[in-house]
Amino acid sequence: MQSNNMDYLTIALPKGKLFGLSAELLAKIGYTAEGLSDKSRKLVITNEEKKIKFIVSKTADVPTYVEYGAADIGVIGKDVLLESGKDVYELLDLGFGRCHLMMAVPKAEKRAKLTDYNHTRVATKFPHIAEQFFNRHGMQMEYIKLNGSIELGPIVGLSESIVDIVETGTTLKENDLEEIVSIQEATARLIANRVSFKMKFDRIHTMVSDLRKILESEAAK
Ligand code: PRP
Repeated sequence: MQSNNMDYLTIALPKGKLFGLSAELLAKIGYTAEGLSDKSRKLVITNEEKKIKFIVSKTADVPTYVEYGAADIGVIGKDVLLESGKDVYELLDLGFGRCHLMMAVPKAEKRAKLTDYNHTRVATKFPHIAEQFFNRHGMQMEYIKLNGSIELGPIVGLSESIVDIVETGTTLKENDLEEIVSIQEATARLIANRVSFKMKFDRIHTMVSDLRKILESEAAK
């Protein structure tokens, strides 16, 4: 479905941690709109002059809006993109939002090796990535899908371990958990709908090269 107007470029931004840095980066190439905020209750914010529409959506839904063409472009973490399995173009690594997906367990109950956790329960927001990881290690796990505060799982006896993202390590530390294996590095990515990429090629191409110039000049500092 390609419901958005050809005159506009529609960009889906995730609420939460990535929103501020995404909006800041886009502003550097002139992609702004008055009142653009993830706190606003207004969900579509338009810049009429530049013909840009911003959609502010729940993080996990960004790949869905882009896959179906409700948004031409999106900004999303590689972790959420992989988990979604959505069929979109990944155009650019934006570099910010760096984190990694890993498996962690309560320090006090740490087992000697990874396979000692075979046939145990793992709490996670990323069951697909987790399953692929454990399958590669020949392990069969029970996946318990949680939507937040994953670290609580092993603390209250819901699971033996978690698969979750770590940024600073503070949450693990404060809950006496220890990372035992890293699974996947992640940063924010610019993604595009496959049809939009062809239909709005010039505009998207210009946007990507403008962003690339900004990222390169920042990296050189
Ligand atoms: C994420 C993640 C960890 C935490 C890691 O949760 O699920 O809980 O951040 O960050 P840290 O290593 O800097 O402590 P988020 O804040 O997105 O909220 P959630 O627990 O509700 O998913």
